[in-house]
Amino acid sequence: MDYYEKFALYYDDLMDDIDYENWFLYIEDIFSKFNLKPKNLLEMACGTGNLTYYLCNKGYKVTCFDRSSDMLSIAYNKLSSFRNVNILNQDMVNFRINKKFDAIVSICDSINYIVNEKELLRTFKNVYEHLENDGIFIFDINSYYKLSTVVGNNIFVEDREDIYYIWQNYFDEDNKFAHFYLTFFIKENDKFVRFDEEHLERAYQIEEIKSLLKCSGFDDIFCFEAFSFNKPEMESDRINFVAKKSFKG
Ligand SMILES: C[S@@+](CC[C@H](N)C(=O)[O-])C[C@H]1O[C@@H](n2cnc3c(N)ncnc32)[C@H](O)[C@@H]1O
Repeated sequence: MDYYEKFALYYDDLMDDIDYENWFLYIEDIFSKFNLKPKNLLEMACGTGNLTYYLCNKGYKVTCFDRSSDMLSIAYNKLSSFRNVNILNQDMVNFRINKKFDAIVSICDSINYIVNEKELLRTFKNVYEHLENDGIFIFDINSYYKLSTVVGNNIFVEDREDIYYIWQNYFDEDNKFAHFYLTFFIKENDKFVRFDEEHLERAYQIEEIKSLLKCSGFDDIFCFEAFSFNKPEMESDRINFVAKKSFKG
């Protein structure tokens, strides 16, 4: 399925309610909580580079990748002034980078785009292989509750001056798939031009994720309600996971 193509051009405008600086600070809080001072970071599914920007700005050595070349071309422009970033076009499921990292991060429910357990397991094993001993893996998911109950089977409409967009969703209980049908009308030369994209996210229960992380070799696994260190609640909409690769010296 192709997505994040033309949408890439409008992604940053439509995500303007997300505070990426705060997200970056939360990730740094996690480093501190786990007594880590990582230097080499990998960001998977970096999209247009919004978190990457803050990571580079802080001086981390960052490698980032995404599967969408349209998202990456926005990221290239945003990050062009940094010398401490390496931007790649790769897939989370089978990426290969000839290097190990102190920390691997992926934010904003990118992991939900991996829609079957086999591929998610391959991803987690791959992450494990690319981590240094004592390395940390940080990512979040849209919760099962959010995908099935809050956004699934719902319609959202946003009416802005130059963009009108409709987000129609359908939750498939059997496959645990949230189908998002996005229709955009973009104002171009006094006319509204339409384009459509279909996105698919898979809803995972916390226990499923924990068990796949364990099967991938991670020993210490923690999960929190996102942007906090609290236990997730039944109605938490975003869950943040932290998985540590133990030192096996
Ligand atoms: C919701 S966006 C989040 C982007 C970015 N992390 C952010 O916080 O703005 C999801 C991103 O995941 C990327 N993506 C989805 N599946 C992927 C995969 N298998 N490998 C790499 N990137 C993927 C998409 O191209 C898109 O950029």
